[in-house]
Amino acid sequence: MDLDHLTTLDELDVKGKRVLVRVDINVPLQDGRVTDDTRIRAIVPTVRYILSQGGKPILMAHLGRPKGKVVPELSLGVLRAPLEEALGTRVVFASEDGGRSAADWVSLLGPGEVLLLENVRFHAGEEANAPEFARTLASLGDVYVNDAFSTAHRAHASTEGIAHLLPSAAGRQMQAEIEALRRALENPSRPTAAVVGGAKVSSKIPVLENLMAKVDKLIIGGGMANTFLLAQGIEVGKSLAEPDFVDTARKVLAASTAAGCEIVLPTDAVVAREFKAEAETEIVSVAEVPADAMILDVGPQSLAALMALMAECRTVLWNGPLGAFEIAPFGEGTFRLAQEVARLTRADGMVSVAGGGDTVAALNAAGVVDDFSYVSTAGGAFLEWLEGRELPGVAALNR
Ligand code: 3PG
Ligand code: MG
Repeated sequence: MDLDHLTTLDELDVKGKRVLVRVDINVPLQDGRVTDDTRIRAIVPTVRYILSQGGKPILMAHLGRPKGKVVPELSLGVLRAPLEEALGTRVVFASEDGGRSAADWVSLLGPGEVLLLENVRFHAGEEANAPEFARTLASLGDVYVNDAFSTAHRAHASTEGIAHLLPSAAGRQMQAEIEALRRALENPSRPTAAVVGGAKVSSKIPVLENLMAKVDKLIIGGGMANTFLLAQGIEVGKSLAEPDFVDTARKVLAASTAAGCEIVLPTDAVVAREFKAEAETEIVSVAEVPADAMILDVGPQSLAALMALMAECRTVLWNGPLGAFEIAPFGEGTFRLAQEVARLTRADGMVSVAGGGDTVAALNAAGVVDDFSYVSTAGGAFLEWLEGRELPGVAALNR
């Protein structure tokens, strides 16, 4: 991705302007309460900067997937107060229930105040990237800032279409994400490693193909590794695996050799007969997985080898757990390797970048989110970036 021409907030004149800001505040909610406010905190620097310049921030965002219809439970009104608290200034919610139009709300906005528009996905034109809806949004502001890297893989009116209609720039959060990802993959300190885990090879083939051309070591873990073991003629008992993708795994192995990238698979495993908390476990070589058992984590020998390998690397990119980390004790491999990466980052200046929903949950459980160089707030967008795909929301800001 050519990011040399990414326009940043510092290059955009926002003084006294109405600034349309696309944010991703698609946060988890339980009974109307925010259970993880990471994404809300992430937008604060951009919004505060705009306010400091005398600009009027008008936030555009989505919540859930209402599919072009008004779904009252997905109204963004619920986030007005949490935003106000995070931003430390008055936030006005532009309700579409009363008689006021979005344009009315904008004209009523006072100095130092922030306007939060209703869920843009209540309008069918948003996901369709309809030119007319993009024009309606654009008419509400003078300039456009996209601070939502985690929705940049969607070519929607508020993430893509509008960028062609107004002077545009990347917000602080968007810029930080892109810079961190570039540092890990475009021009990294070597050697580099990527840890790719999770359940399925089938969903990560493009990721593996892109990464093997860029990194020196590709560590495969989780359920995915079992399919690779099958591809090498190793029986994995009742382990999660995709026999239909054994050929694909063989092709990935051959291509990685050709690309000069070493694929690292587990050599031993923690197995159990039942997938439940505190199930009875056994440690076996991967060549000796009992027919009635399943692999649920990497074994100690594999873990020691991975730790030694990490100590040699200068950059690591992490997506996906090594084992079934949600259930104890099968998170040990993931947690201990993550803790080692965190230690190397602190003590040795290793660059460590992680992303993807599961990954962030695993790093949180390991207690190391703050010790990695960068942890992305993005799920799908992070994966598409790992696939080497151009993200429409980022491309639209590149001039
Ligand atoms: C997310 O939560 O992954 C982003 O906000 C994008 O949401 P979407 O997957 O519904 O487009
Ligand atoms: Mg998603």
